[in-house]
Amino acid sequence: MNDSKYIIAPSILASNFATLGEEVVNVLNAGADWIHFDVMDNHYVPNLTIGPMVCRSLRDYGVKEFIDVHLMIDPVDELAQSFIKAGADLVSFHPEASKHVHRSIHAIKDQGCKAGLVFNPASSLNILENVIEDLDLILIMSVNPGFGGQSFIHSSLEKISQVRKMIDAAGKDIRLEVDGGINNETIGLASKAGADTFVAGSAIFNTDNYEQTIKTLRSKII
Ligand code: DX5
Ligand code: ZN
Repeated sequence: MNDSKYIIAPSILASNFATLGEEVVNVLNAGADWIHFDVMDNHYVPNLTIGPMVCRSLRDYGVKEFIDVHLMIDPVDELAQSFIKAGADLVSFHPEASKHVHRSIHAIKDQGCKAGLVFNPASSLNILENVIEDLDLILIMSVNPGFGGQSFIHSSLEKISQVRKMIDAAGKDIRLEVDGGINNETIGLASKAGADTFVAGSAIFNTDNYEQTIKTLRSKII
């Protein structure tokens, strides 16, 4: 895992899929730390995106950097394993989508992959009491999952602060990621609340100069 204090993880959901390999290389050369890979199944969320073959294609294309796979799928376990085989560095999933969350986390970790748990705007954090020690990353959704380009939901800031306290109390090396509506204004709010890993899709891929955009985003982290 990249040890930088702050991680910028562009979501390829907002990239041009017709030239995905080039887009990924360009955004990494422009200073991105991770690639955020959004997987949607038209069942857990009302949209459909990309599967493990696309992750494998990026590896075969020469992408060596950290691939952060965000599963918005139900069920979780089988495709999680396929993504690990396809080269994912971290696989996160939504607890509502797994019948046995502890088992799903450990099935990922047993393969030497990092594991994350994702919380929707209306999801309770209670489950963290039982599994926080097993996690490498906690992802707080600041939009409802399913689409890029939505507005940041400000109540997620309180949730980020709560998770920051839980991580500090656990004393473990767990990244706190925020996903949805991150831009030059909201990245500072999320970092102030305690996030250290920032997913941004449209705020990066809808601009012409990825390097300048990432530099500006980074400069707004407090
Ligand atoms: C939403 C996805 C996000 C999305 C973020 O379900 O998980 O990663 O791509 O896109 P923006 O940054 O445009 O809100
Ligand atoms: Zn995502």
